[in-house]
Amino acid sequence: MSSNIVVAIDGYSSCGKSTLAKALAKKLHFIYVDSGAMYRAVALYFLRNNIDMSDHVQIAEALKNIHLNFHSRDYQTHITLNDEEVSEEIRQMPVSDKVSAVAAIHEVRAEMVCQQQRMGKSKNIVMDGRDIGTVVFPHAQIKLFMTADPKIRAERRYKELLPTNPTITLEEVFENLAHRDYADTTRKESPLTRADDAIILDNTDLTPVEQLQFALDRVEPLLV
Ligand code: DC
Repeated sequence: MSSNIVVAIDGYSSCGKSTLAKALAKKLHFIYVDSGAMYRAVALYFLRNNIDMSDHVQIAEALKNIHLNFHSRDYQTHITLNDEEVSEEIRQMPVSDKVSAVAAIHEVRAEMVCQQQRMGKSKNIVMDGRDIGTVVFPHAQIKLFMTADPKIRAERRYKELLPTNPTITLEEVFENLAHRDYADTTRKESPLTRADDAIILDNTDLTPVEQLQFALDRVEPLLV
């Protein structure tokens, strides 16, 4: 078996990329990297330290002081920001509201892409994000581009957030997703777009098991 297969999964916010990526990595014993968690951790640092996003000197200085690490347990993302576990905090609304703006900054993307490419060297890896098949791994053997009905996506995210955010509303979640989709697809730096060779996976009417099978049917032939 080749030891450097990259499965690149891109798509809109909350359309099940990480659910699929985790399940796929677990089934195939690949490494899973949630690239969005990296942008979220940077956004958290920017929030906590009041980084002025129009000040390139502050941004460069901040990036030097940010050290991210993944610890994968059971294919769940555990990310540390300067040795502090922030996996839960990066999913909360203050970070979700800020992250698209942070992810649009050239210096931030350059640094994250560099770290992501290093993680994929000589390893079998599943990485999900927005620019994985277009920028990070343009030569990935398999590229999936995921999409789903925006209303269904908002409902799924709402259910995920409700236990830790009892006051959150479905409208708020819908608005946040719409805003992030718009920001991610229209930004100047590496906008979210489908790579020409990416396979579209619309999971509006698919169960997690069905979407996993869809992906396995495309990846497994590469493993023989
Ligand atoms: O996948 P997610 O929702 O956790 O991603 C958080 C934000 O990070 C999202 O608004 C877009 C950005 N992102 C990106 O620009 N490039 C990536 N490879 C991954 C995420």
